[in-house]
Amino acid sequence: MIVYLNGEFLPLSEARVPVLDRGFIFGDGVYEVIPVYAGRLFRLEEHLQRLENSLKCIKLDNPLTRQQWIERLETLVVRNKGGDQSIYLQVTRGPAKRNHNFPERVVPTVFMMSEPASTLPPSNGVKAITRIDTRWQRCDIKSIALLANVLLRQEAVEVGAAEAILIREGYAMEGAASNVFIVADGVAITPPKSQFILPGITRDLIVEAMQAAQLPYREADISETQLRSADEIWITSSIREIVPVITLDDKRVGTGQPGAVWSQVWQIYQDYKQKLRSNVS
Ligand code: PDD
Repeated sequence: MIVYLNGEFLPLSEARVPVLDRGFIFGDGVYEVIPVYAGRLFRLEEHLQRLENSLKCIKLDNPLTRQQWIERLETLVVRNKGGDQSIYLQVTRGPAKRNHNFPERVVPTVFMMSEPASTLPPSNGVKAITRIDTRWQRCDIKSIALLANVLLRQEAVEVGAAEAILIREGYAMEGAASNVFIVADGVAITPPKSQFILPGITRDLIVEAMQAAQLPYREADISETQLRSADEIWITSSIREIVPVITLDDKRVGTGQPGAVWSQVWQIYQDYKQKLRSNVS
């Protein structure tokens, strides 16, 4: 695997970051995960815009121009032989003597890697649990400090579930590493963007696709009661795409099978990817 570190492309085994890097010491950095289909970066502009927003929120100057990001990302994809991949990139506030204050001179660390990805078959549905959202108040920043998310996801895995859906003050926000949609009375609902959820690129694409296909949807708060009585629940992310939840806290969701609306939206998503693969979009 070839990775990118601070201007160089090199094998993963040769990539080294100083132990005083503020990413390592404080989790002081932000990241993105970008899918690649048939060698093409999926929704690249949107991912780079979200990165820009995250950097602005943590007061770290973007170390690369938009064009430099694109060139480096495209090179990384080629150096890893194209096809389907998942790109992970992160920018940290770089190495400095340990002190909470920002260092006077910041030399950010830019790291990118690629993992091969395989085409996901349509999901048969997964189990999810609910948990109190123990995260901070700036979940809109794609921060590498993910301890709460990690602990919440682990709780799910330990009971054989794929995701923890997080409840804040009686409302479902998102998953530990995904956005959430429900379907109630034929209408798909996802929480509006706020500081309590990550503005997911997959979420936005689904909202756009539903609008284009004139499928009924709303961006609205989802109460815990609505979540528990939903006909369908989906979790969405760049890694998982759109996955139907068929069991929530050991209770059946709807019929206990992937729902009809999920199936329609999943197909639209696949068609969109197919267009990208054949460069029609
Ligand atoms: N996470 N919400 C959270 C908390 C996430 O971590 C993610 C994705 C999403 C979905 O965003 P997108 O559709 O842009 O992937 C929502 C990535 C995939 C990760 O941490 O691996």
